[in-house]
Amino acid sequence: MEKRHLHLKGPALSQIVAGAWRWNSVDVAKLIRTSLDAGITSFDHADIYGDYDNEKLFGDALKKVSINRQQIQLITKCGIKLLSSKQPSTWVKHYDTSKEHILTSVDTSLKNLGTDYLDLLLIHRPDPLMDAEEVSETFGLLKQNGKVLHFGVSNFTPTQFEMLQSYLPFPLVTNQVELSLSKLDCLFDGTLDVLQKHKTSPMAWSPLGGGKLMSSGSPLWPKKEKYNATETQLSLAWLMRHPANIFPVIGTTQAERIIESAKAVEIALERQDWFEMLKAATGRDVA
Ligand SMILES: NC(=O)c1ccc[n+]([C@@H]2O[C@H](COP(=O)([O-])OP(=O)(O)OC[C@H]3O[C@@H](n4cnc5c(N)ncnc54)[C@H](OP(=O)(O)O)[C@@H]3O)[C@@H](O)[C@H]2O)c1
Repeated sequence: MEKRHLHLKGPALSQIVAGAWRWNSVDVAKLIRTSLDAGITSFDHADIYGDYDNEKLFGDALKKVSINRQQIQLITKCGIKLLSSKQPSTWVKHYDTSKEHILTSVDTSLKNLGTDYLDLLLIHRPDPLMDAEEVSETFGLLKQNGKVLHFGVSNFTPTQFEMLQSYLPFPLVTNQVELSLSKLDCLFDGTLDVLQKHKTSPMAWSPLGGGKLMSSGSPLWPKKEKYNATETQLSLAWLMRHPANIFPVIGTTQAERIIESAKAVEIALERQDWFEMLKAATGRDVA
């Protein structure tokens, strides 16, 4: 699978990224090996996944896989604090984008993932109490000491993205957003437009709508025979046909579905087929 840059000055990731949110109670080493064999070299995490356990599960599994650190890309997120027995000082779920929290979270992620650098760190959710100057200073420190190579955000509106970007001396290289045939808001609310303006690529989380899209008999799949493709492959190909250079972050816990998903990069949907799928998803023609 070809690697593409999220941004001219950003990291090169596999076009399809493997998400580790659901990777607990599974054979993580097997999923890593399967991903790599299928050409998926980029892995998406967050400090909080699996009630703060998944990064460590992944880091431990990675030790069993013989791969050079430079051959994979590790992405993680910080900024959400969950109510958890592992976080005794938290009494309400909240966001924290303070310098102290970001630095602590990065150090914990590095330790858990068993690495000395992250390819990409994302602010997980827009924090109403975010001090952009403080975040900028913190990102600068992390870049300077080599702990994080690139920075981005997740679930930011276009104006939130522009606001944080205006404080930074280097580009935000992505906005990771919920986007699929069952969640189309970002396509029409300016989110993708602003990213295209900045020549920054979106990452699409829940690209299969968390599995919702896969209900049998859906009108979404009129083109399965034409492309000799599955529902999963068509859903991912539909995202990748968009000129914003979308990187789907798949969430399956099944090795066969990783292999199936990776083949989506070979499908180039024709314009009218793309619109036919959009019509099936929205239930109406474009104006
Ligand atoms: N930035 C954020 O705020 C944010 C939020 C949520 C997620 N994420 C990232 O995005 C990644 C993907 O999210 P996601 O897991 O919701 O993505 P997804 O790929 O849309 O959904 C995966 C789910 O769909 C199921 N599924 C896949 N194919 C199916 C089929 N043919 N029939 C029935 N079920 C099927 C999977 O089950 P099986 O495991 O059985 O295949 C799994 O439960 C996460 O791992 C995480 O890295 C980011």
